[in-house]
Amino acid sequence: MAIFHRAPKNKQKPRSPILLLVIISISVIAFLFILSCWNSTSKLYFPAASVIQVFSGGNHNNDHVLEKKYLYWGDRIDCPGKHCNSCAGLGHQESSLRCALEEAIFLQRTFVMPSKMCISPLHNKMGSLDQSSNSSAEDRWMKSFCAMDSLYDLELISKTVPVILDNSKFWYHVLSTSMKLGARGVAHVQGISRNDLKEDKRYSNLLLINRTASPLAWFMECKDRKNHSVVALPYTFLPSMATKKLQRAADQIKQLLGDYDAIHVRRGDILKTRKDRLGTERSLHPHLDRDTRPEFILRRIAKWVEGGRTIFIASNERTPGFFSPLSSRYRIAYSSNFSRILDPVIENNYQLFMLERLIMRGAKTFIGTYKDNESDLSLTDDPKKNTKIWQIPVYTMDSKES
Ligand SMILES: *[C@@H]1O[C@H](CO)[C@@H](O)[C@H](O)[C@H]1NC(C)=O
Ligand SMILES: *[C@@H]1O[C@H](CO)[C@@H](O)[C@H](O)[C@H]1NC(C)=O
Ligand SMILES: *[C@@H]1O[C@H](CO)[C@@H](O)[C@H](O)[C@H]1NC(C)=O
Ligand SMILES: *[C@@H]1O[C@H](CO)[C@@H](O)[C@H](O)[C@H]1NC(C)=O
Ligand SMILES: *[C@@H]1O[C@H](CO)[C@@H](O)[C@H](O)[C@H]1NC(C)=O
Repeated sequence: MAIFHRAPKNKQKPRSPILLLVIISISVIAFLFILSCWNSTSKLYFPAASVIQVFSGGNHNNDHVLEKKYLYWGDRIDCPGKHCNSCAGLGHQESSLRCALEEAIFLQRTFVMPSKMCISPLHNKMGSLDQSSNSSAEDRWMKSFCAMDSLYDLELISKTVPVILDNSKFWYHVLSTSMKLGARGVAHVQGISRNDLKEDKRYSNLLLINRTASPLAWFMECKDRKNHSVVALPYTFLPSMATKKLQRAADQIKQLLGDYDAIHVRRGDILKTRKDRLGTERSLHPHLDRDTRPEFILRRIAKWVEGGRTIFIASNERTPGFFSPLSSRYRIAYSSNFSRILDPVIENNYQLFMLERLIMRGAKTFIGTYKDNESDLSLTDDPKKNTKIWQIPVYTMDSKES
């Protein structure tokens, strides 16, 4: 995860009062229009003006209007669960969110998204997280989250799977309607299979399914992805749903970079070592610290990236000038080179990470830290998956490597 430092901002750009008025009037009109569509409690349809295309995996009949039914997994990704006081990084939470969205597609329901995403303290150096004090897990969570719609374009997501936020007027309306309907409106379920929720009339006709997901993490519900027909969204789905603001900033930077390559250098938290009984440092990724140092990066990437090319580096390494030795052979750029573009846009580290992902995806040659796939280029050959075997870190070049 990249680290982004920014001076505190104290000036808000003045907005034109006319623009503000126009925005308010449009919002009010839209809201009244939406309300007018809520005149029936048993049959709720999407307003005709916002026909939602429902993803249907190869089925051509994907233009129909969904009868509005809702799926709710809770107000926090991966909660209740072990991640409540120290949530996982953005990538893990995206796996969990994607899993929930896939279920909504399967059940043809609108997904009620948590309006906030927890930012792992490990991955955020922007907020003022006081970890020293006795603040409860709840306090810490409340201090370190970002708004879901500061990361994702919900309208864009809704073209594939309709979503609403759990702090929206829509959601309050669904809640009060389901309460009025009682058992005919809502079911609170746990441990019931997707197929039952879809086929069993006790659930399939309800306005709202309130589902308690795995207490370990939401993505555990999608652990069994062997049946390919149930995998409805690719890993790239959420990364490509970044807000328009983030997409625009990424496009501007890509244009300035021109023809470029990119490397993602994960250091930071994954370098952690621990001492064994004899006091020797051990690591889960014994070559990682070595392989992500500039001298070794230079050697490793020489066969993939010609000298003189521009390399965009995304990294969570915070030592100033750490990667400077790479400029002996390449033109090096970081997101910090584009603070003029980023400062007005980036408020938290997850936004920065999403933006850097978009830039990395536009690279001609991309080199990751680990291999996700046999064909990937990577800085290290250490496996990504935590092997649970703690080994002594290696800092020298093995003789059998070139
Ligand atoms: C934290 O709690 C402990 C015991 O409950 C107390 O002794 C200590 O002073 C507290 N520290 C702070 C910073 O509040
Ligand atoms: C959903 O179900 C859980 C567990 O039964 C319950 O604690 C929670 O209040 C329910 N939420 C809603 C919005 O009904
Ligand atoms: C795969 O999932 C689909 C949809 O749930 C189901 O109809 C099908 O029977 C499953 N196939 C296998 C081999 O489990
Ligand atoms: C980016 O900034 C670094 C200093 O932080 C500088 O060495 C480098 O030349 C800059 N790269 C570009 C492409 O401007
Ligand atoms: C591995 O790469 C192939 C070819 O680029 C791609 O089709 C496949 O989805 C990748 N698998 C994973 C797990 O990323």
